[in-house]
Amino acid sequence: MKRLVLITLLLAFVGINIAIAADVVTYENKKGTVTFDHKAHQEKLADCAKCHEGEPAKIAVDKGYAHDSCKGCHKEMEGPTKCNDCHKK
Ligand code: HEC
Ligand code: HEC
Ligand code: HEC
Repeated sequence: MKRLVLITLLLAFVGINIAIAADVVTYENKKGTVTFDHKAHQEKLADCAKCHEGEPAKIAVDKGYAHDSCKGCHKEMEGPTKCNDCHKK
């Protein structure tokens, strides 16, 4: 019985962690590390659907996504668009 309670608690804990996104994600690359502050974007933009389609989940951020979607929104909303605004050595 005690063990069952423990397992249930453990599963609940894991479940909660899956639903919470990392606050800050960094992408290392040869042009210079890019830091994405997920929490700041969340707070600024309020609507998850600005970036996530359907249920929010992991997005594979590669060069194409970054220079298209990240930069695309920055152009519209006056976010950083210069190379070194995002890439820091
Ligand atoms: C500015 C765009 C943007 C907004 C707004 C945004 N997200 Fe995200 N989210 C991302 C990106 C990009 C990733 C992938 C980060 C990475 O590389 O791990 C992500 C990842 C996630 C993940 C997966 C985390 C992981 O590592 O598995 C969850 C869950 C998530 N977001 C939830 C939310 C929720 C809930 C909201 C709204 C309250 C939200 N996001 C708003 C861009 C955004
Ligand atoms: C839907 C719109 C939107 C998307 C998508 C988005 N951003 Fe932004 N981002 C913004 C806005 C708006 C700002 C300016 C925030 C401010 O001035 O407070 C910003 C600011 C930033 C900053 C500067 C933060 C600072 O401390 O000054 C960085 C770096 C950044 N974004 C990286 C990214 C990356 C990397 C991605 C893609 C993974 C991304 N953003 C996707 C809207 C977006
Ligand atoms: C909105 C933020 C942002 C801006 C502006 C931006 N980048 Fe990027 N860039 C990224 C992200 C995020 C990645 C993906 C990094 C990864 O996959 O590790 C990336 C990837 C790259 C890569 C690939 C590196 C590799 O190792 O494959 C190069 C090269 C690059 N960017 C050059 C540039 C240049 C040149 C500019 C200016 C003309 C620029 N970037 C502007 C965010 C940005």
